[in-house]
Amino acid sequence: MKQLRTGILCGVLLALCLLTGCTQQPEPAPENPVVVGFSQLGSESAWRIANTQSMEAAAQKFGYGLMMDNANQKQEKQIAAIRSFIAYRVDVIIFSPIVETGWTHVLREAKNAGIPVILTDRMIESGDEDLYTSYVGADFIQEGRKAGEYLVRKADALGRTTVNVVEISGTIDSTPMRERHQGFMDVIRKDPRFHVVDSISGDFLRSKGKECMAELLRRHGAEGIDVVYSHNDAMTLGALDVLDAQGIRPGQDMVIISVDGEKAAVDALRQGRINCIVQCTPDLGEATMSLVQDLVAGRQVPKVAHPEESMFTDFDDLTSPQVEGF
Ligand code: AHR
Repeated sequence: MKQLRTGILCGVLLALCLLTGCTQQPEPAPENPVVVGFSQLGSESAWRIANTQSMEAAAQKFGYGLMMDNANQKQEKQIAAIRSFIAYRVDVIIFSPIVETGWTHVLREAKNAGIPVILTDRMIESGDEDLYTSYVGADFIQEGRKAGEYLVRKADALGRTTVNVVEISGTIDSTPMRERHQGFMDVIRKDPRFHVVDSISGDFLRSKGKECMAELLRRHGAEGIDVVYSHNDAMTLGALDVLDAQGIRPGQDMVIISVDGEKAAVDALRQGRINCIVQCTPDLGEATMSLVQDLVAGRQVPKVAHPEESMFTDFDDLTSPQVEGF
């Protein structure tokens, strides 16, 4: 009973720490070095590269051996990496699922092998909760809501009665794509001023963001688009290239709403070329390795932990040092 209470207390303290941004310190190394297998989904954006660096730095800080595999955007490579971690009998598997579906078999194999799985950054489909121990990553619905709330405020400020929105979404069937859309729609669908006239996927890639923007302009013309809601900065920066090339002033002729907060996008926000950036932190390494530490010590861990995130907009004081990109 005492052990259970202590476990619950540790779990609550850890959840509080993750929510408030504080992180656990590494404990003295156990006799056998801890080995963690990490399947990263790719390197499609500055966000992803910063996320990989955060995981590597945290594994080093905690003294864990890290077997990392970059799947280069291929689900089958992630499945193969997880199978190799199981074969190697790592202590904990961490993975960032490129899409939500198709993981049941391989995660059942990990479970049968007794290896705990931590999902980081992205989720798998609901219904498979018993196949992972913990999720640490953004609340993507909340991010979408923030984008929607900004848009309502901006339309009010501009006195607009009709607003045509185009959406450049992330990878189809991925958690950030589905939930950033859902949270945004939850807010704006209640307001008859807003019309989402088109939505196409740019796969979180700058090159595809460019292609999507060119296609949206071809379909609707500049006069048919008031707002571009793009699910990440990489695609937004690609879209800005196309707007520039066509003599359309992003941030003025069209309201630009983005997600992430990478340096280049924050610079564009300061220049008035992006109007709003909903922050999504790539810095998940310490929170994830803290969970590993608790798991190997046999402590309780929270099922879900979200980092604190804010947003930067053209309503804010953009000279503030708080407005900082990664
Ligand atoms: O899953 C997080 C998203 O994936 C980030 O917003 C995006 O930049 C990345 O590619």
